[in-house]
Amino acid sequence: MTIIVTGGAGFIGSNFIFYLKKNHPDYRVVAFDALTYAGNRMTLMPLDGCEGFRFVCGDICDPYAVDRLLNEEKPDAIVNFAAESHVDRSIDTPDVFVKTNILGTATLLDACLKHGIARFHQISTDEVYGDLPLDSSTLFTEDTPLRASSPYSASKASADLLVQAYYRTYGLPVTISRSGNNYGAYQFPEKLIPLMIVKALKGETLPVYGDGKNVRDWLYVEDHCRAIDLILHHGTPGEIYNVGAHQEIRNIDLVRMLCQILAIDEARITFVADRKGHDLRYALDAAKLTAQLGWKPKTMFDTGLQKTVDWYLRHRSWWDAILTGAYRTAYEGG
Ligand code: NAD
Ligand code: TYD
Repeated sequence: MTIIVTGGAGFIGSNFIFYLKKNHPDYRVVAFDALTYAGNRMTLMPLDGCEGFRFVCGDICDPYAVDRLLNEEKPDAIVNFAAESHVDRSIDTPDVFVKTNILGTATLLDACLKHGIARFHQISTDEVYGDLPLDSSTLFTEDTPLRASSPYSASKASADLLVQAYYRTYGLPVTISRSGNNYGAYQFPEKLIPLMIVKALKGETLPVYGDGKNVRDWLYVEDHCRAIDLILHHGTPGEIYNVGAHQEIRNIDLVRMLCQILAIDEARITFVADRKGHDLRYALDAAKLTAQLGWKPKTMFDTGLQKTVDWYLRHRSWWDAILTGAYRTAYEGG
């Protein structure tokens, strides 16, 4: 089986490639990534030279590059992780989110139709559902209406609608998964957990937006990868699957947990101006995925957080190269 993983040099995409190579060693896996600021070619270097792995630098918005790739590889499936993924950046520069997340997905869908690809899987997010009140126990289900808040989530919701439209209109065999906030190894240090770890280790203050009471539903990245693998192989075309671990934590409590693990003074926490349009609470109901495909999370938050901190402590050179910018030039290969 040949699988193209777009956005494979990013956080979740690279974890998924490592997961595939470990669990399906006979599969051919092709990473297709434009290497934006968030793409890190060095992350995938351990696979260079391995049989059944190829890296192609290319843009999902470029129909010629995508067409060439599908002609060369004749893949059985495409898993689309490629996206602009950071809410704060989407508030500053929404245009690139519209281009990559919407037009890029549309380009991939057209190419899948043309080449008769047997499965297109779209990696989506719980943020397409908008947010929930802080003082409720309501969960997002797959039937919750789309009510995106940020340019990021609006672009992801638009992409989801296109994916569903290609199923309904052309019968393209698609699936969509919507997960909560991921954490784990190789996450770019702009997102909450790696940013706080890196700032803590550098002796800086820890900036918490607003009053820190916003809630996120955290998912260990390896649990997410296992869910995607299950959906790819056993999911029903046309269906959407929520992927969540029921690990709802307030931001301030999470940052305090990090202070405790890293043995640093909580006085380093500083409350800073809130994010514009800041979503209050995300919480996912993943009962459909459990009932239909037997998925359950294996890693609870305290264990996963400790593992993640340990990884950042052991891989200082990985994130130092990002902070200095060396990761953009260190890799000379294609
Ligand atoms: P990331 O920012 O770490 O990685 C994105 C990758 O996509 C990078 O390698 C980047 O170079 C690549 N890319 C960007 N534009 C591209 C383009 N035009 N063509 C080809 N490649 C391009 O993101 P991530 O956190 O790994 O997220 C991956 C996917 O999962 C995204 O679609 C995101 O919306 C979704 N998601 C992320 C989370 C999370 O918590 N990180 C949660 C739910 C869903
Ligand atoms: P983030 O990791 O950007 O993910 P998302 O916005 O997709 O949920 O942020 C997670 C939460 O942490 C979110 O409520 C915003 C908050 N946050 C901070 O308080 N300080 C920070 O420096 C960052 C980056 C995020």
